[in-house]
Amino acid sequence: MLDTLPNLSAVAATQNRPPVLQVDHLNLWYGDAHALKDVSFDIYPSEILAFIGPSGCGKTTALKCLNRMHDGTRDVRIEGCIRMDGEDIYGPDIDPPLHRRRFGWVAQKPNPFARSIYENVAYGPRLHGLVNGRAEMDAHVETCLRRAGLWDEVKDRLYKMSGDALSGGQQQRLCIARALSVNPEVLLMDEPTGSIDPVATALIEELMLDLSRDHSIVVITHSMMEAKRIADRVAYFHCGELLEIGPTEQMFNAAQTDKARRFIAGQFG
Ligand SMILES: Nc1ncnc2c1ncn2[C@@H]1O[C@H](COP(=O)(O)OP(=O)(O)OP(=O)(O)O)[C@@H](O)[C@H]1O
Ligand SMILES: [Mg+2]
Repeated sequence: MLDTLPNLSAVAATQNRPPVLQVDHLNLWYGDAHALKDVSFDIYPSEILAFIGPSGCGKTTALKCLNRMHDGTRDVRIEGCIRMDGEDIYGPDIDPPLHRRRFGWVAQKPNPFARSIYENVAYGPRLHGLVNGRAEMDAHVETCLRRAGLWDEVKDRLYKMSGDALSGGQQQRLCIARALSVNPEVLLMDEPTGSIDPVATALIEELMLDLSRDHSIVVITHSMMEAKRIADRVAYFHCGELLEIGPTEQMFNAAQTDKARRFIAGQFG
């Protein structure tokens, strides 16, 4: 692919390490509709990879394949291979719930539980038995809220306030804290700033840059400016195909395909 062209040194550095995920000739059908067509790409440690492309081109569908979120959806057929640390994630030795726990998922619309702030973060680790005892849980909740940049704003109302009573931007950071609470390796974010204001967006973007030191992040965005600000690499999807993938600077300055160039320039989509 186009990754081999001269690129930013930071991007090159992330690719010196083996990929966390390797997507190889992935095809997906919803019934008869061929939604992903021969999609191949890698995800490297500590990188932010942005998926861009027109509505309906398969970005969310591709993201959901990575953590097997299509499992149990009727009439979905998947072909091809996705490897995580070299192992086929659809292979017989994979336990789907355990696989899913290696990922944090953040949706466009913040969706905290109608429970306390504390409970929103403690729920996952308790369910999976990741933390022993109250003191350890308290410390874990604090760490997750700090990493999500929310601790100082909520530390005095952890038990009193319901997660869904926070502002939209705060709710999204709470959802990020919740996603982090099960110690995922990869964060999958489907338009995480799509429904929040510019100030809250700036906070979340900063947070993503910070979190990418310890996690790979795949983020879907409709904002070209956002992709430019935060992504190491950009993948352009079009009608179910991954038309082009490359370092952000290259995609924005010298995309190889006419469709990607026109989309990035805001000429359609
Ligand atoms: N559960 C489903 N059943 C049937 N078709 C689906 C399903 N989910 C998505 N699709 C179809 O698959 C195609 C890709 O959808 P997808 O949600 O991946 O697009 P997207 O690129 O994320 O779009 P957007 O930018 O609008 O979120 C679309 O034609 C969509 O209608
Ligand atoms: Mg989508």
